Amino acid sequence: MTIGQSAAHGAARGRYEAWTPARGTEIIADHLALEGPALPIMHAMQEAFGYVPQDAVPLIADALNLSRAEVHGTMTFYHDFRHEPAGKHVVKVCVAEACQAAGGHATSAKISEALNCGYGDTRPDGQVTLEPIYCLGLCACAPSAMVDGRLMGRLDDEAIEEIAAEVRQ
Ligand code: FES
Repeated sequence: MTIGQSAAHGAARGRYEAWTPARGTEIIADHLALEGPALPIMHAMQEAFGYVPQDAVPLIADALNLSRAEVHGTMTFYHDFRHEPAGKHVVKVCVAEACQAAGGHATSAKISEALNCGYGDTRPDGQVTLEPIYCLGLCACAPSAMVDGRLMGRLDDEAIEEIAAEVRQ
């Protein structure tokens, strides 16, 4: 069942911008006035590029007057940040308690099989990145997932086939 479009993930999901230092610098500048700008900058980069490029580390460090090690440490501490480009489609499957109680373990295994992709991996053809996520706030419709920013609940075999078809596009 499709629930709707997440405001946090725009329609351009799956069509990330290519990383350029100029665009990275622009994103940094857009967030410099914030208090504690490092995380907002990294989130904005992941939204724009689908990951936080290693090449962004020195740019962020210089702009925030931090060491590269500090920026790298922040980037790797938060598991939300990808360090490699995401696939064309990003599928996040909830593996938290309510979804597990609603058969989520079997569902998540079926999704992995249907997409031919392991959790935390991007398929070699670049078509999909599959990630576990811990609660999408959709527990009442468990088991749940998010496909390119769109929430899906009550995942059954039909919904899994719908996800697989979407990923083929
Ligand atoms: S536990 Fe899966 S959506 Fe909340």
